[in-house]
Amino acid sequence: MAKIAIIGAHGKVGSLVVPVLTARGHEVSGVVRSQDQFQDLTDAGATPVLLDVATASEDELAEAFAGHDVVVWSAGAGGKGGAEATYAVDRDAAIRSIDAARRAGAHRYVMVSFISAVHDHGVPEDSSFFAYADAKVTADDHLRASDLAWTILGPGTLTDEPSGGGITILRDDAPVPEESATSRENVARVIAEVVGRPRTAGHFLRFTDGRTVVEEAVHEAEGEDAGMRPQ
Ligand SMILES: NC(=O)c1ccc[n+]([C@@H]2O[C@H](COP(=O)([O-])OP(=O)(O)OC[C@H]3O[C@@H](n4cnc5c(N)ncnc54)[C@H](OP(=O)(O)O)[C@@H]3O)[C@@H](O)[C@H]2O)c1
Repeated sequence: MAKIAIIGAHGKVGSLVVPVLTARGHEVSGVVRSQDQFQDLTDAGATPVLLDVATASEDELAEAFAGHDVVVWSAGAGGKGGAEATYAVDRDAAIRSIDAARRAGAHRYVMVSFISAVHDHGVPEDSSFFAYADAKVTADDHLRASDLAWTILGPGTLTDEPSGGGITILRDDAPVPEESATSRENVARVIAEVVGRPRTAGHFLRFTDGRTVVEEAVHEAEGEDAGMRPQ
């Protein structure tokens, strides 16, 4: 069992993954920026940690991660506050959290990125989506360049639909399908699965809703090149 810190623990994905991890016996710390969210985390079996990652220093983040084995990033500005807030959270805070995880001795880092997080993402610079794509790719690059045992998750467009039974992991350089809906419940299940599978380290797992049960899909991907798309 691992001690896991989740950044964005009260977000839509975070709220789904915390109870899955605690039910599996992991010790979970939920990093949130509002005390109003403490009770929900406690109810889900996690320990709340108050930290605004946009303003927290690397030192403060490292202190919060001390004693943890795994750091999971599932936070995001969510487009609120424009490009400035997007870069402050999705890029700069994510990068500080990666450096802090190393300093704190957490050996594993799971990043929730997105399905098109590659350099040639094709989002034009004048698009309102550009800052997000650029921020995520830059943070992912920083993680890849670290010596952490990283796994980057690339779900498609997130939905609040139930899992629907499974996922499809995109192989190698398979193009992003036009329909990339991905249930947040599936993202939570994939996070919980990769945390316990160190052989998924070094993989960028791009996935959408599909027909293969999550455990099987992740197991298939961990031993081979499937789902791995190095930059
Ligand atoms: N939307 C999509 O289609 C899509 C697709 C692929 C990947 N993703 C990624 O999936 C991940 C999870 O998405 P989601 O739907 O769960 O998002 P969400 O519901 O918006 O959750 C994001 C969480 O991040 C927290 N957060 C934002 N700024 C923070 C700060 N400065 N300090 C501490 N916490 C902060 C928010 O806290 P508050 O509750 O205080 O606001 C919120 O709980 C994100 O990394 C996102 O980029 C999204």
